[in-house]
Amino acid sequence: MSKVIKNGTIVTADRTWKADVLIEGETISRIGEDLKGDEYIDAEGAYVIPGGIDPHTHLEMPFMGTTAAETFETGTWAAACGGTTMLVDFCLPGADGSIKNAIQEWHRKSAPQICSDIGYHMAITGWNETIFNEMKDAVDMGVNSFKHFMAYKGALMIEDDEMFASFKRCKELGALPMVHAENGDIVADLQQEMLEKGITGPEGHAYSRPPEVEGEAANRAIMIADAAGVPLYIVHVSCEQAHEAIRRARQKGMRVYGEPLAQFLTLDESEYFNKDWDHAARRVMSPPFRSKEHQDGLWAGLQAGSLQVVATDHAAFSSEQKRMGVGDFTKIPNGSNGVEERMGVLWTAGVETGRLTMNEFVAVTSSNVAKILNIYPKKGALVEGADADIVVWDPSITKTISASNHHSILDYNVFEGFEVKAQPRYTLSRGEVIWAWGQNSQPQPGRGRFVPRPAFPSAHTALSKWKALTAPKMIQRDPMNIPAGI
Ligand code: URP
Ligand code: ZN
Ligand code: ZN
Ligand code: ZN
Repeated sequence: MSKVIKNGTIVTADRTWKADVLIEGETISRIGEDLKGDEYIDAEGAYVIPGGIDPHTHLEMPFMGTTAAETFETGTWAAACGGTTMLVDFCLPGADGSIKNAIQEWHRKSAPQICSDIGYHMAITGWNETIFNEMKDAVDMGVNSFKHFMAYKGALMIEDDEMFASFKRCKELGALPMVHAENGDIVADLQQEMLEKGITGPEGHAYSRPPEVEGEAANRAIMIADAAGVPLYIVHVSCEQAHEAIRRARQKGMRVYGEPLAQFLTLDESEYFNKDWDHAARRVMSPPFRSKEHQDGLWAGLQAGSLQVVATDHAAFSSEQKRMGVGDFTKIPNGSNGVEERMGVLWTAGVETGRLTMNEFVAVTSSNVAKILNIYPKKGALVEGADADIVVWDPSITKTISASNHHSILDYNVFEGFEVKAQPRYTLSRGEVIWAWGQNSQPQPGRGRFVPRPAFPSAHTALSKWKALTAPKMIQRDPMNIPAGI
């Protein structure tokens, strides 16, 4: 059965034009005018864009003494409703510390539940020979990116020498190191200072994680990646200090990528000063939301290309879970929602205001990250042969975001009350319509697939070549001209 998406305007990262899209099976087989098929999907008055890729989620993540409430089923379903057809979720090692076992555990949890496609990043939370060896197994299993936490002291945090060893291993394996950039030692100290001052509420979270702490760690990670000769991806960039570090590195020719979040682009630190404890605690995440000035810088970075990807870091903890931190903000599980809202919020605050072109919107919601993660053009592109992960994006559908109508499992929404100016009329995952506006029927859990990602993306190979060319070399000297030592 073939399908034709009819009469839409195609928007990709580099072009906008009127055409139909023919889908045969799971892939795009033709793009052109007046295409015929067995079934038609109406895209009149709408844009046809690649399905969104959210490269940063934490579904069912065991963290801070609890487990994130969003399941693989509800998370991928919510994503599809918002126009996102692929998530890349973070695997954390379990009690045995094994990377291989963690990936198998993630498959065990995700496979029966996922409604759309998924990939994984792996967290490196310590360093030993087993981890060194198993990083190769991870890459062989299609997981070619490794996150390093420079914060969460006493839990996930790793030290600089461990990070350097892991980055060098990433270079050998053709994998991409990622960092959570915050100076965990300083954060831990500032947290104690706040508690001693009697600042026990969620505002203490923001005070104990100032932008300088993020900027310092970003600079340090960039230096370590440069010394290791490997590209670097900095997750959840929230502030000018980290952005500045990325900008400077890129200007020097380093291959560093920055990922702001939809939350950081639209919500600010005043949320933590809300008199309602629950309201403030629901927005506790690391790094925290910042001021409007930082937001302006992040938007400019997306325009300028110094920041490439907009994610959500969707880590959904219920109000009850957040209350684990009543009386001590350091015990509030860190994380906020956004997987369903990202595309609509970014369109409304970005394209509708002129901060982003439609093509830039596509670049930062799917194409750029597909390239960085080495799955382009299978994902993130509308070209013949690509997976038919497609959204018919309707700029005439408006919606007020609310916990009362969202598809997430959460009992609140950090974007509550935000009016979005566009929504998916249809979301297709590998050719199947998994969301149709107004129908609200859920796709089959388990229909989604794990997408293995090959190692050695081109930027990695190019950087290795340059590093080899410019590496320190011994100078050959005529022994006759070397003076005798003393
Ligand atoms: O607060 C956050 N970001 N929670 C999820 C874990 C992480 O650091 O990405
Ligand atoms: Zn340390
Ligand atoms: Zn993080
Ligand atoms: Zn995260």
